[in-house]
Amino acid sequence: MSEKIGTLYGIGVGPGDPELLTIKAARILGEVDLVFTAASPGNDYSIAQQIAGPHLKPGIEVRRLNFPMVGDEETLTSAWKANAEEIAKVLKSGRSAAFLTLGDSLTYSTYGYVLPYLAETLPPEAVVTIPGITSYQMAASRLNTPLVTGLESLTIMSGVEDPETLGELLDKTDNVAILKTYRSFEKIMNMLKKKGLAQNATLYSKVGLPDEEIHRDLENTTITEPPYLSLMIVKNNRR
Ligand SMILES: C[S@@+](CC[C@H](N)C(=O)[O-])C[C@H]1O[C@@H](n2cnc3c(N)ncnc32)[C@H](O)[C@@H]1O
Repeated sequence: MSEKIGTLYGIGVGPGDPELLTIKAARILGEVDLVFTAASPGNDYSIAQQIAGPHLKPGIEVRRLNFPMVGDEETLTSAWKANAEEIAKVLKSGRSAAFLTLGDSLTYSTYGYVLPYLAETLPPEAVVTIPGITSYQMAASRLNTPLVTGLESLTIMSGVEDPETLGELLDKTDNVAILKTYRSFEKIMNMLKKKGLAQNATLYSKVGLPDEEIHRDLENTTITEPPYLSLMIVKNNRR
């Protein structure tokens, strides 16, 4: 075992365009010894890896970490712990690594799940987070629409388990960005219609990627199940 501990860089690669990484992220990607990506049984290739591709050293070792998409707490925590152990083993051998995340590294990311387990076994300076442009920032920029102005508020959500919670939030906040809309699109649409806000909602799928789709005014939409890479921004116009 080497004396020197390598560094793990949790890198946000942005939402799709390989030119939308920070200069720092691009430099580090070209320097690290190994790359970790997240794979789940339903998603056997990493979109983050595709985005980071142009910045990686040719022939670099890429390791997929398994993040099961299940509700069972014990299965999840044992996978996160095992992933943290695998990462720590690499760092303790003196090698540096990047953990790729789509969008921003600390926004609804798999990296966020392993961080507490890494902290149990590594000194704090061994882990460095490099933020990235989030999917909802990219979405807003596609239509040149401010996310928030003046005294407005913005709520970020990931999916909607309980439509009533969304309803309550819509009463209180000026703008809502809902990620992982694919999970609960129907529930979301029903609540937006109930609140008279469906026409103020825009659905963004695969923003920054070649097959991007943007649908404004969802009042009469025929979409029932958008792709995984979809989010919605709802403007409340309360002011
Ligand atoms: C696990 S979360 C990752 C969020 C990401 N860390 C961020 O900063 O945006 C995955 C969700 O992000 C959203 N997302 C990520 N990239 C996207 C893209 N290019 N287009 C639309 N939505 C995207 C989708 O809502 C997707 O279901």
